[in-house]
Amino acid sequence: MSTVLITGAARGLGLDFVKQYAAKGWKVHACARTPDALKQVKGDIHPHTLEVTDYAAVKALAARLGGEAIDVLICNAGISGKEATVLGSIDPAVWRETFEVNALAPLMMAEAFANHVAASQDRKLVAISSRLGSITFANNGRYSYRASKAALNMEWKGLSVDLAPKGLICVVLHPGWVQTDMGGQAATLTIEQSVPAMVKVIDGLKPADNGRFLNYDGTELPW
Ligand SMILES: NC(=O)c1ccc[n+]([C@@H]2O[C@H](COP(=O)([O-])OP(=O)(O)OC[C@H]3O[C@@H](n4cnc5c(N)ncnc54)[C@H](OP(=O)(O)O)[C@@H]3O)[C@@H](O)[C@H]2O)c1
Repeated sequence: MSTVLITGAARGLGLDFVKQYAAKGWKVHACARTPDALKQVKGDIHPHTLEVTDYAAVKALAARLGGEAIDVLICNAGISGKEATVLGSIDPAVWRETFEVNALAPLMMAEAFANHVAASQDRKLVAISSRLGSITFANNGRYSYRASKAALNMEWKGLSVDLAPKGLICVVLHPGWVQTDMGGQAATLTIEQSVPAMVKVIDGLKPADNGRFLNYDGTELPW
């Protein structure tokens, strides 16, 4: 039996990741601040209450799952930051929060769970990032969000080097612009178009994909 652990699992893309993997018969460790929504999902679901910036709680969960192999770790939890998009309105408090949730917390998750993933068959460490974190596609505004996702991308590139000797495949995925609370209703993709496509990409990852930045459809994105 294969096992996946997902953060931010109670709504949006995270909840659909839970549904997709549960439907495939996987054991799903579903981490959320309020895991109530997970009760409706059928399958081998193990809900965990987890605020991803509570690093003691992250370590405690890793210890509780000690000795358990996790085939795929999906660091999905993220925030858009409420900061106004124009220069002149940068709010340091929003910046720090966005950076902590989007960049520091996934790295702390990766550090805490790297050995669980290394002990598995698939050994895949996936970060849900964004095309907005690509330096190549840099544009105006959204400073904290763009910078936090660029930092996340750099971290995963580093992990792809550090964890290669343990056989881990570290990949950054862009889900597309998706109709969630974060993406809004004007987004071009539905959750049903994005998440199953990402699951297919994750299923197909090979060691040669270690250190890649991929779109939800598996095409390469520039850093
Ligand atoms: N939607 C898009 O168009 C889009 C595009 C590019 C990238 N992304 C990325 O995709 C990921 C998922 O986004 P989404 O569209 O599903 O957004 P969403 O609907 O706003 O959901 C965000 C999820 O992250 C969780 N979360 C936020 N802060 C957290 C924290 N401190 N601790 C634990 N969980 C936390 C939320 O939990 P609560 O329910 O407890 O708040 C929620 O489950 C994010 O990393 C986002 O940056 C999304």
